[in-house]
Amino acid sequence: MATLVGASVLVLASGAAPAAAEGVGPAPVDGATGGGDPYFPAAGNGGYDVAHYDLDLSYTPQTRALTAHATIEARALQGLRSFSLDLRDLDVSAVRVDGAAAGFTHRGGELVVTPVAPLRKRARFVVDVDYGGTTGQPADPTGALYGWISFPDGAFTGNEPDGASTWYPVNDIPSDKAGYTFTVDVPDGTVAVGNGKLTDQKSAGGRTTYRWQADDPQASYLAMAATGNYVLTTDRGPHGLPIINAVDADVDRAAAQAVLAKQPAMIAFYEDRFGRYPFGSFGAVVDDNDEPGYALENQTRPIYAGVPDESTVAHELAHQWFGDKVTPRLWKDIWLNEGFATYAEWLWGESTGGPSPQQQFDQAYATPAGDELWSVLPGDPGPADMFATAVYQRGAMTLQVLRTTIGDDAFAKVLRQWAGRDRDRPVGTDDFRALAEQVSGKDLDALFRTWLYTPGKPAAPAPA
Ligand code: TRP
Ligand code: ZN
Repeated sequence: MATLVGASVLVLASGAAPAAAEGVGPAPVDGATGGGDPYFPAAGNGGYDVAHYDLDLSYTPQTRALTAHATIEARALQGLRSFSLDLRDLDVSAVRVDGAAAGFTHRGGELVVTPVAPLRKRARFVVDVDYGGTTGQPADPTGALYGWISFPDGAFTGNEPDGASTWYPVNDIPSDKAGYTFTVDVPDGTVAVGNGKLTDQKSAGGRTTYRWQADDPQASYLAMAATGNYVLTTDRGPHGLPIINAVDADVDRAAAQAVLAKQPAMIAFYEDRFGRYPFGSFGAVVDDNDEPGYALENQTRPIYAGVPDESTVAHELAHQWFGDKVTPRLWKDIWLNEGFATYAEWLWGESTGGPSPQQQFDQAYATPAGDELWSVLPGDPGPADMFATAVYQRGAMTLQVLRTTIGDDAFAKVLRQWAGRDRDRPVGTDDFRALAEQVSGKDLDALFRTWLYTPGKPAAPAPA
């Protein structure tokens, strides 16, 4: 379906483009306005790859006024007469490409930019976008608040899956990772937080500007900006890893501190199993606003709506390997994030005296056959059920069945090798199955077909 969308755009473009002079390569095209994910055909774009987003955001919580400037460094993957960025709800006042004013249209969440001259294939280019407006109440396909989520005393972002475009112009697909710089200007007394490390802070004229630098390339759904009544504290993880926590002054700070103090031990525990923590910093944002009802594994800095419990922190930390570093190309493979983070929660829980993964499995397996756990397919849940229990629980159960099928040693090796994959090569379930088959020497087709893609409660797996 996505291929069709992309193809029709290309056909239209080449039909309308001036014929290429011989020997100069194909005529420049209009870059696709979708990124090729059947769950979210309008998210993402074609024809370029972003290297860096520099986001300059000025926000006033009381009025929800956002005035912003984005500087985007990218590289053309084809000759481009025009290209698009995803941006919803906000208004664009000017666009420049390599410093020159560019033509643009902004409709239906697509900002289509036409530079004065076409971009050559492989050319590096810089896009500047001036934009802003009053932030709204965007909701994701499950109906939950997402994107830029405003509260009376601040705002935080939860982009997953396609909400980044509610606050910045973006190539909103998980496979186009980029570095980020956030320069966030807020009224004095409000604190702003982004991914990565705080590199500057200055006050003038009743406003304070915070600069955060996120050098480890990250998917757009993991980009984060939060503004609120936060207190920043720092801690150290293994190998001197900087841990920067932002805890809302209005939550039970002792309770928050008690759970966040476990992060270094959790990182060490996962490092033993999954390999070195993949990024240059970590930490949490704990906000007092619990309305979104979920936590999110933003790269280096998960966000919690209210003081989290220990298993939630263990879950979001595990995502740094499973999802943030090793990232699915398509949203249908969301179980590669949620099933794995849930399984990691089980491992951490067991290490602190809780039930074993097999006991967790047995308890979940007791769920009656008519339950939604058995009807939603973890391997292709559909956009409205991306965060259904089946994706988390049946996903983690799939891993436990794999473990009993291939044995503890092979399973440990599979997890470690999976977590060790290159962050820039997006993955799919077939890649995971291929790895598990290669490590175990077993044909695992039926196992994955039954547990991920077949409706109904699977027969009890044979004991190991
Ligand atoms: N990925 C998040 C986590 O598991 C969960 C999440 C994101 C979510 N968006 C959601 C859950 C919307 C429910 C509804 O940590
Ligand atoms: Zn999760």
